[in-house]
Amino acid sequence: MPVSTIEWIGDLDGYVRLIDQTALPTEVVYKEVRTCEEMWEAIRVLRVRGAPALGIAGALALVLGVRSSTADTWDEFRKDVENTAAYVGTSRPTAVNLFWALSRLKTVAEEHNNLPIPDIKEALLDESLRIIDEDRRVSHRIGELGQELIPDGAGVLTHCNAGGLATAEYGTALAALFAAHEKGKTIRVFADETRPLLQGARLTTWELQQAGIPVTLICDNMAAVVMAQGKVDCVIVGADRIAANGDTANKIGTYGLAVVAQAHDVPFYVAAPVSTFDLTLESGAEIPIEERPDEEITEGMGRRIAPEGTEVYNPAFDVTPADLIAAIVTERGIIRNPSKESILLALS
Ligand code: MRU
Repeated sequence: MPVSTIEWIGDLDGYVRLIDQTALPTEVVYKEVRTCEEMWEAIRVLRVRGAPALGIAGALALVLGVRSSTADTWDEFRKDVENTAAYVGTSRPTAVNLFWALSRLKTVAEEHNNLPIPDIKEALLDESLRIIDEDRRVSHRIGELGQELIPDGAGVLTHCNAGGLATAEYGTALAALFAAHEKGKTIRVFADETRPLLQGARLTTWELQQAGIPVTLICDNMAAVVMAQGKVDCVIVGADRIAANGDTANKIGTYGLAVVAQAHDVPFYVAAPVSTFDLTLESGAEIPIEERPDEEITEGMGRRIAPEGTEVYNPAFDVTPADLIAAIVTERGIIRNPSKESILLALS
């Protein structure tokens, strides 16, 4: 990766530096984030995005929020931690990694509740840095395992962006492609542009170009014809939340892609870290789906593209049923034909 997605600079008085993904691909702009509210905004408008990166951003938002807490007893500090975590959690509802990271930090605070408050704050920063470090290692492991599913000479279709920009580095679905390329396999990637916010066009093509992987950009509605033409040997995407039965929430359009892949007998793969599983949910029907502002659809290409007053439905994610998924690649191994049983076995 030529850029660092998100990092903490300095000690507890430091700040977050993240690449502002809304400016890509035309500009590489770094943003310094010094308050919890600024981080909330960065998450909300997708300056930082992608499930694992949202986990990191959430943890760092909590650190930014509580480092200035004036609480001098554990009970008061715990309230500040709880309230700040609840606030950060209102930024985006679907990617469970955000809530996973917040709850991990809350547990660390509890575990250190006998220490002076400044030490608990340090422990929270340390834990956030550990989450970043782990995510780097997990992403590389997913890449290593995931590349086994990518045959030499394959045409691979992906949707949205599940690359280094969506994680601490390297990615999940794109990690499998980076690793395949590094192993010397020849691959050609078809990147769905990913309406309405164009993560595929803006971010995935950019990352693949930097890595020297041949990539062809298509509009989302071209995926079926590209498959019908026999150009796609497999589809691989990331995930925002995977229920206990394997139903998978990912960027809007993923479900349609999985249906089209099944119709063409093309295997459909998901790549995601264990932190993206939400075993408290029986099925995908329980996954909260974010709905975003109308303007993301009624305005595009620098101008209004629908009449004033047009009614809009803008869900940011959809759920792909487990039976359309051939395998889920995690850092613990590849779960083939995901089901409640195979997922429990792999994650326990
Ligand atoms: O709205 P976004 O850009 O945050 O959506 C991102 C996705 O849907 C990704 O595919 C998912 O988070 C996996 S990222 C490794």
